[in-house]
Amino acid sequence: MEQEKKTLDILQVKEILLKQIGTIAHEERSNATIPEIVLSQEEIQITFASGKIHGEILLQCIEILNSSLENWRISSIETGYMALQAPSISGYDAKYGLDSLRIRFTLYPSKCNVFVSKRGEMSTPELLAIFGLYRFLSSLGNSETKNPTDILVKLGATVYDPIEEELKGEKMGFERIAGYKSVKREIEETIIYPLKHPEVFDNVSLLTKKYVSKNKPRAILFEGSPGVGKTTMAKVVSAECKIPLVYVPVESILSKYYGESSQNLAMVFDSASLFPNCLLFLDEIDSLAGRRDDGMFDANRKLLSVLLRKLDGFEAKTGTITIGATNRKGDLDSALLSRFDKSIYFPLPNQEEIAEILHAYALQIEMEDRKTLAQELLGMSGRNIRDFCDSVERRWSTELVISNHPIQAPPFSFYLECLKIRGLKIIDS
Ligand SMILES: Nc1ncnc2c1ncn2[C@@H]1O[C@H](COP(=O)(O)OP(=O)(O)O)[C@@H](O)[C@H]1O
Ligand SMILES: [Mg+2]
Repeated sequence: MEQEKKTLDILQVKEILLKQIGTIAHEERSNATIPEIVLSQEEIQITFASGKIHGEILLQCIEILNSSLENWRISSIETGYMALQAPSISGYDAKYGLDSLRIRFTLYPSKCNVFVSKRGEMSTPELLAIFGLYRFLSSLGNSETKNPTDILVKLGATVYDPIEEELKGEKMGFERIAGYKSVKREIEETIIYPLKHPEVFDNVSLLTKKYVSKNKPRAILFEGSPGVGKTTMAKVVSAECKIPLVYVPVESILSKYYGESSQNLAMVFDSASLFPNCLLFLDEIDSLAGRRDDGMFDANRKLLSVLLRKLDGFEAKTGTITIGATNRKGDLDSALLSRFDKSIYFPLPNQEEIAEILHAYALQIEMEDRKTLAQELLGMSGRNIRDFCDSVERRWSTELVISNHPIQAPPFSFYLECLKIRGLKIIDS
């Protein structure tokens, strides 16, 4: 679908920049100076300085610009200086060159000066590019000392620190997920052991591979119906390996910053890579990556291309392992699917597993009876089973209150009785 080409005149641009950039510039701990915006004849000039930056950050600046601008090129590069040019119309015809958006970075030992200029009107992507660049530099200026958690939280992610959770008394381990033996084994093999014992995996690789290549996974797909334990499993991996889990509900990245989602996604990856090691969990990845031939909007296509680049590109050298979760693998773009080293399928629990799950939520029931109950609950996910047990408990407790009976756990027969009552067999998926 063709996106409407909208341009803004320089007065409108100035007003928007002042408002948007002003909000960031005044945020606490901004690492960039408040931009100076000057209108000179037909040209708008924006100048600001960020803290000291190094080559890697400069590359990330290019990534940010690349996520908004279609055509750009480096027009000049030398030690401490880089200039980019993005013509508003494709092609590098000299006659459009004059109207190009120009961005110049001058690196000093303690700061970086950024000078942006543009003649004539400005398009929304150009505006977003400048806005994104400013936001990135003001948040990342001090990346060596900055806590990535702060940035990620601002972007709508949640960061679980397993060490902090353990201190709070939250015990997360494989035992939290009943059953799923073969899934656990696959996860140990693909994520946990390579992270915990990299030397063994690397040395085996040295003996087998003609050319050096690591066999540590970079991207794994968790596939399965809602409520089968995908998110819980990501938390377990984080706890087992003692590395932070960055939880990103993709839907919120899509809706929270309308029109800026691709920049946000790029920033989520960049900020996560500031951790020496972390798990980046992209939940409901299908909401962002519908098939390309579905007549996807331009914005979504841009987002997908950022994701594809981030999953292979120079991410390889960072300690980020991406886990994508989906219950609609068939809807994923094939290019995206190919970026995952492995797909791990979480099936619905079988009868034996349901009996084990029941042991976690109805431990008073005898094994034999749990198996009988499990037969009745076939087709439910772990979450459905937990919810069913919760509802039985609420009903039982209410009856205890009403009848003024002493406290005791609901008996097996009560679970069966509840199952027969229509409406209690809640399936919330
Ligand atoms: N195998 C299981 N054993 C114990 N609890 C489970 C199991 N599977 C799911 N649950 C329960 O269901 C809840 C939801 O699971 P979740 O990890 O959010 O599923 P998903 O991410 O696949 O939708 C968990 O918090 C847990 O209480
Ligand atoms: Mg989930």
